[in-house]
Amino acid sequence: MERTYLMVKPDGVQRNLAGEIISRFEKKGYKIVGLKMFRMSRELAEKHYGEHAGKPFFESLVDYITSGPVVAMVIEGKDAVSAARDMMGATNPLKAAPGTIRNSYGIEIGRNVIHGSDSPASAAREISLFFKEEEIIEYSRDVDRWIYE
Ligand code: RTP
Ligand code: MG
Repeated sequence: MERTYLMVKPDGVQRNLAGEIISRFEKKGYKIVGLKMFRMSRELAEKHYGEHAGKPFFESLVDYITSGPVVAMVIEGKDAVSAARDMMGATNPLKAAPGTIRNSYGIEIGRNVIHGSDSPASAAREISLFFKEEEIIEYSRDVDRWIYE
């Protein structure tokens, strides 16, 4: 079982899409083990998107991600990192496959409604950046036997 860090970005929250987006991962069968709303500081945003520092879109990306509250979650399940990325779709919503979250709800690359970790290593880094250990809840679900064989 794998965990990944997902975040409804400020545009997703403003557009009342948080519930819809959380629901997609719930309905697929992933287990939510962490969930909260907060507004990101610039310092945290620069750390989170550190790999993009110096790129032309970096400042506007930090402005965007700090512009309002985000809804962050940690989900757990088989192949969670790559499956969540597939469910999100390509970074540019106009290039995202039909039915993906970004295809369904976005138009512009700078307003692509959701973030998801791009590798297991990024997931570990982002989960510890945004969640305290005690905010991750370990629990079992009876329904798991209907989701996994
Ligand atoms: P994210 O990290 O937000 O989940 O997105 P991603 O992996 O699909 O894409 P990434 O390359 O990590 O880029 C991070 C975010 O920066 C914005 N971006 N703008 N104008 C541009 O060329 C450009 N490229 C990236 C997007 O909001 C992207 O989600
Ligand atoms: Mg990324």
